[in-house]
Amino acid sequence: MEKTNLKNIIQGIPKAELHLHIEGSFEPELMFQIAKRNNISLAYDSVESLKKAYKFNNLQEFLDIYYIGAQVLINEQDFYDLTWAYLTKVNSENVVHVEVFFDPQTHTDRGVPFDVVIKGIYRALEKAKSEFNISYKLIMSYLRHLSEAEAFKTLESSIPYKDWIDGVGLDSSELGNPPNKFENVFKASAEQGYKLVAHAGEEGPVEYIWEAINLLNVDRIDHGNRCLDDEKLVQVLIEKKMGLTLCPLSNVELKVIQKMEEHPVLKMLEKGLLATIHSDDPAYFGGYMNANYLETAKALGLNKDHLMQLAINAFEASWLSTEDKQQHITEVKEYFKTLHS
Ligand code: HPA
Ligand code: ZN
Repeated sequence: MEKTNLKNIIQGIPKAELHLHIEGSFEPELMFQIAKRNNISLAYDSVESLKKAYKFNNLQEFLDIYYIGAQVLINEQDFYDLTWAYLTKVNSENVVHVEVFFDPQTHTDRGVPFDVVIKGIYRALEKAKSEFNISYKLIMSYLRHLSEAEAFKTLESSIPYKDWIDGVGLDSSELGNPPNKFENVFKASAEQGYKLVAHAGEEGPVEYIWEAINLLNVDRIDHGNRCLDDEKLVQVLIEKKMGLTLCPLSNVELKVIQKMEEHPVLKMLEKGLLATIHSDDPAYFGGYMNANYLETAKALGLNKDHLMQLAINAFEASWLSTEDKQQHITEVKEYFKTLHS
């Protein structure tokens, strides 16, 4: 496909974003603006010098900067502005459904109350629902470098807001923090009616993916790149129709792969895995949904059928009702039909 054509095709696809950390959508310009109004000085003196620091050799080097950036978020309005900026951006990219992560502990550990965080995020999500017709789910992530006891405290803080939260996730430093560390809190979260997802197999080995499935009982895996190391696991993931929310630009930036041409998503599609494409932390990794689709398509030579399958898989793997999934999938198919004519 010719490049400009490819870009236009991707723009027009009705898309679902299932792997997005709202703190990772914090653009430097907005970060400086919010830092200023909160009287906080950043360790960088300009947007340019901050952006220059965005060079990572692994997940931990990224997380160190990501947590620093989040420190300027203090008031409900800050969380609202952050979330609204993201939603405005993805609305312009024809994203019609989002399932958004937030990391409460990144904020509560600094003395910012849980309710301040969630109220700002929720208000922006509701506004996008009415103004942009973007549907959404909200996912509270436990930080896996902290203890399970601390995750339990977060679970407790979330109870008054249970109706606003659809599920829990597990993120932050993967290596050395296997899913089994959080078995009890995931069980307790399920008892509260939360759905379950976990990051697994981004840097961590296939055992972490097995644990996420067998011990945490997740119904979706975030990343899951490493699953191709284990053919038995691949078969289980296919049988369970387990969504894998891949983030290609993130994978390149964090050196999970050395170059985009090595990205496993095409192999995954060919095997029949429910692989999907998302942006993870777009302000840090060089692009939102369309850029992730575009760079992957260019590097792997994806055709229209692959793109359609990726878009359909995202709705399949989402937490929308069967009816809503079907409606979006029909719209995706209709869209691709118009391209063939
Ligand atoms: N991996 C793990 N934790 C994270 C990520 C990620 O890509 N982004 C934000 N928190
Ligand atoms: Zn992530």
